[in-house]
Amino acid sequence: MLVAFGSAKGSPGVTTTARVLASVWPGDVVLVDADPAGGDTSLLARTPDRGALDPERGLLSLAADARRGLVQGGVREHLQTIEGGLDVLCGVSTPEQMTGIANVWPALAAELAQVQATDVLVDCGRIVASSPVLPVVMAADVLVLVARPRLESFAHVRERVRWLAHLQDTTARVPAVGVVLVADSRDKRSLADLQQLLAHERLPATVLGQVALDERAADVVAGRLERPIARSLLVRSVRQLVEPVAALAVERGAVRRPA
Ligand SMILES: Nc1ncnc2c1ncn2[C@@H]1O[C@H](COP(=O)(O)OP(=O)(O)OP(=O)(O)O)[C@@H](O)[C@H]1O
Ligand SMILES: [Mg+2]
Repeated sequence: MLVAFGSAKGSPGVTTTARVLASVWPGDVVLVDADPAGGDTSLLARTPDRGALDPERGLLSLAADARRGLVQGGVREHLQTIEGGLDVLCGVSTPEQMTGIANVWPALAAELAQVQATDVLVDCGRIVASSPVLPVVMAADVLVLVARPRLESFAHVRERVRWLAHLQDTTARVPAVGVVLVADSRDKRSLADLQQLLAHERLPATVLGQVALDERAADVVAGRLERPIARSLLVRSVRQLVEPVAALAVERGAVRRPA
């Protein structure tokens, strides 16, 4: 299954949520950093022996292959393994590099949707009509929109869901949309408020759950701090998302649940 992650606006925690979800995902999984603004993975993640990742190996090398028509079955060659054992496809370093590979995105999207025996989670950054990675969003089984519990954040999510619903009228296929809130674990109201807002406007989006606001664990994910986080609020809350994300993908027509 192919799961895209993105934001309606701002920096609510897309990269952190996608990275932690990939690290707890059952079965084989690949994390793709496709943020058009420039990826964070090659900057923040380390190899298992704590070295730097190669920023040239990832989307850029895959796009070069795609341009030469060599991409079939070749995604694996462009992956790098990071500390903890997760396989990642590193993103671009600058938005200009993303513009440079914009014309191969339809081919890359098709390729990512077909990777065999592996689920693919893609950080797509901000979801806008002009995004070069829109072909991946459209090829995904599920788009997970990450938001914060603020009025304006809810309003922007609502507009993205409306826009996608409208696209569905003109496009053959759009992903199922799920929404995740990054909020204080004591906040028991915001999730229900968001659910109510979407239901009230009959918008086709499923509220998937809450990611705990956990600054220390987020700092560890970003490499700013070292400590075990397997039992942190962040990781425990993200683990709860596996089932609803997979269920939404299966509902959308993805063939299988993760092992
Ligand atoms: N669950 C969380 N709890 C606390 N802080 C978080 C959480 N998730 C993300 N953050 C923090 O919020 C900031 C933005 O996070 P992140 O980079 O994941 O967001 P993003 O939506 O991908 O942003 P960008 O627009 O830069 O791609 C970072 O400082 C990160 O450590
Ligand atoms: Mg990000």
